[in-house]
Amino acid sequence: MNTADLFRNAIHPERRDEPLCDGAVVLRGFALPNETMLLQAIDMVVAQAPFRHLITPGGFRMSVGMSNAGTLGWVSDRRGYRYDPIDPDSGKYWPSMPDIFLRLAGSAAAQAGYAGFVPDACLINRYEPGTRLSLHQDRNERDFDQPIVSVSLGIPAVFLFGGMQRADPQIRVPLGHGDVVVWGGPARLRYHGVLPLKPNHHDALGSSRINLTFRRAG
Ligand code: SIN
Ligand code: FE2
Repeated sequence: MNTADLFRNAIHPERRDEPLCDGAVVLRGFALPNETMLLQAIDMVVAQAPFRHLITPGGFRMSVGMSNAGTLGWVSDRRGYRYDPIDPDSGKYWPSMPDIFLRLAGSAAAQAGYAGFVPDACLINRYEPGTRLSLHQDRNERDFDQPIVSVSLGIPAVFLFGGMQRADPQIRVPLGHGDVVVWGGPARLRYHGVLPLKPNHHDALGSSRINLTFRRAG
């Protein structure tokens, strides 16, 4: 542990770095100091681009509610998964990336060893009890040298972190409000997902969990 970590962990004993594998780490409580600004920024984005349930290429309605900020937004429909600068619901550009998003994503990536990360896409996922995200790889991005930064807010969830093959064993990582997971390098294409959420309550977000996934998509 370096001096900065010792200092940080002394102030926030709940903040620890937990390696998951080569290239991936959980930064416990990393987003907590920015909590209020983050929640305000999320409200501003979803006022312009409300959460919606996208349809998978196979015709299923996703249980996770989704929105985006940034120059590119992740979308799914019968034609496939892709990044699009336009919100298909409004016909307008996605809301721009709030400054606090950029700063948080950049500093979390740097803390995990990926300096210079500048995301152009933030997918905002809203989970309710019973909502899940099935096992998948993030592979719609152009450059797999860029890491992924995932910020958990609200009620807890269990993150599944697997290997490079769908059938590889997965570890179960409990994630709570303010935890950040970063994966890149040799871990960039690992399968991952979220188990169905259990009913719970969070003071700021009620019965929901909001996850911000930052990527360099274009
Ligand atoms: C994702 O894989 O896109 C999101 C994961 C999460 O909600 O923790
Ligand atoms: Fe993902």
